Amino acid sequence: MNIGIIGSGGREHSLCFKLRDSKIIDKIYCFPGNAGTSLIAENINIDVSDFENIKKKCEEKKIELIVVGPEKPLVDGIVEYFKDTKIKIFGPNKISSQLEGSKTFTKKLCKEYKIPTAKFEIFSEEKSALKYLSSIKYPMVVKADGLASGKGVYICKNYKEGRLAIGEIFGGRFGKADCVLIEEFLQGEEMSYFIISDGITHKFFQTAQDHKRVGENDTGKNTGGMGAYSPSRLYNSEMNKKINERIIYPTLKGIKELGTNYCGFLYIGLMVVNNEPFLIEFNVRMGDPECQTILPILDTDLGEIILSCCNKKLRDINIKWKTKKSVCIVLCSNGYPDNYQKNIKINQINNIKLNNDEYIFHAGTKIKDGNFLATGGRVLNIVSTTENFRKSKEKSIKILDELDWKEGFFRKDIAYKVT
Ligand code: AMP
Ligand code: GLY
Repeated sequence: MNIGIIGSGGREHSLCFKLRDSKIIDKIYCFPGNAGTSLIAENINIDVSDFENIKKKCEEKKIELIVVGPEKPLVDGIVEYFKDTKIKIFGPNKISSQLEGSKTFTKKLCKEYKIPTAKFEIFSEEKSALKYLSSIKYPMVVKADGLASGKGVYICKNYKEGRLAIGEIFGGRFGKADCVLIEEFLQGEEMSYFIISDGITHKFFQTAQDHKRVGENDTGKNTGGMGAYSPSRLYNSEMNKKINERIIYPTLKGIKELGTNYCGFLYIGLMVVNNEPFLIEFNVRMGDPECQTILPILDTDLGEIILSCCNKKLRDINIKWKTKKSVCIVLCSNGYPDNYQKNIKINQINNIKLNNDEYIFHAGTKIKDGNFLATGGRVLNIVSTTENFRKSKEKSIKILDELDWKEGFFRKDIAYKVT
């Protein structure tokens, strides 16, 4: 069958790459894709919020299955839009997507189902939020409610920083704000935990650890993700049991009690404090760069897994993983996550010869006149998988050194906790 992937980042390139090897997939289309996806799929330049146009293109190209990469179309209801068509779509519906789209929705669910998370209060008025600020311990965390593309979270060391954050959120920095969340700061180590669900059955879909800060030793501004390693060093069977019993089962039950089911990937962002998992956030999709890090070690046909979910047959699939350790390092444009130049040539990319178990997934790139140009802040994801993290990291860095892209930078310490 023909498949359509929605999105244009490294996550979507890695999805295309893995689906290319699927027994059940003929042709891959990417809406709108990037330079990397154009090498294995046909890119269709379309606005991903224009559902009607996406549907027209799917009919024209005989696409029978759509996989949605990013959260926004899911939160905006793309799954409902395709419900009465013949085209299957993989991802959660609008109700379930509130797990990412609304932090207050998730926090209320946590309260009702006793899911461990940071203690929190929700305020719909600036005045009462500010009053609360003078009664609490620091550091603490202030969050905008809706989608804020990884921004909208402030870790505040004192009252002054808290006041500034609340002012910015109610001032409309992340769109119209009906409320803010003020929550306890959890000191621990983060882990990204993934499942895939067909609404009846859910299965483990690996773990990873993302490095979100721009600077080495996890310092500086938050970014979309500077690199990751998989599996997470915090993962073991005891932790797995705790996460399932305390977080996943109650969440899926809560969604069921709203009269629907969760179908799609679910990203469980955790803070592990003294060996106990706390929910930081849900994302209703695969992570980026976690997806690029995880998919190379998947040892089962991804097309079959996704189709089985659409047919509510996930229970029949045995998802297997290679025992390899994966390290992904993100190459960014100088200046990211602030201002950076666009349309800069990536000279050496055609000269790089990849060995088995080495991958380059494009993020913000395009091809013009046969040249690869960087168009985004995060440009390329370099992934290596070997029998140990140290070797994987060395291989990824070697490729980056060969690329020698002077207009960009990368963190040399990705996976430092395991190497
Ligand atoms: P979020 O968008 O909710 O994932 O938050 C972005 C990042 O802020 C997370 O990945 C954490 O590193 C950090 N963070 C969010 N909430 C907390 C918290 N309650 N305690 C400590 N760090 C947090
Ligand atoms: N890696 C963080 C995210 O995908 O949101």
